[in-house]
Amino acid sequence: MSYHINHVLLLALTLMAMHQSPVGQSVTLAIGSVFIFNQVPGPLNIHCKSAYRDFGPRTLPIFDVFEFNVSVVIGKSEVYSCDMSSRNLHGRFDLFDSMTDWTTERCGIKNFDCSWKVAEDGIFLFSAEKRDYVAQYPWSK
Ligand SMILES: *[C@@H]1O[C@H](CO)[C@@H](O)[C@H](O)[C@H]1NC(C)=O
Repeated sequence: MSYHINHVLLLALTLMAMHQSPVGQSVTLAIGSVFIFNQVPGPLNIHCKSAYRDFGPRTLPIFDVFEFNVSVVIGKSEVYSCDMSSRNLHGRFDLFDSMTDWTTERCGIKNFDCSWKVAEDGIFLFSAEKRDYVAQYPWSK
């Protein structure tokens, strides 16, 4: 799907949902998942939160996956940011932004998921469109 069609579809869905929504009630456009694969050579300390939810600090064993569900709600911008560290690697990265990641180029649209690979050489997002991991962030210096 092209960038243009993607945005026309998004607009159409938004208008449809708004039409059906009583004033003041939140309307969920989509529900998806965020997957974070630990591929650094060791345990990964990770703490993800948004303005509304906090998953608490945890330690992810090597090659393990941390998963949480997210939703896209009309009029509600939500950004999930994760503090991550492992030995000499550290940084804080936005791993889901409801305003920019719900697209074919990034996490997909239908049953979307944001699949992240956390590796020694950086943080990668699986692109639904490219069908491959694409580098997004280097570790902090
Ligand atoms: C996310 O939602 C799916 C589908 O409802 C469910 O199967 C899964 O257990 C949920 N995952 C988490 C981490 O809550």
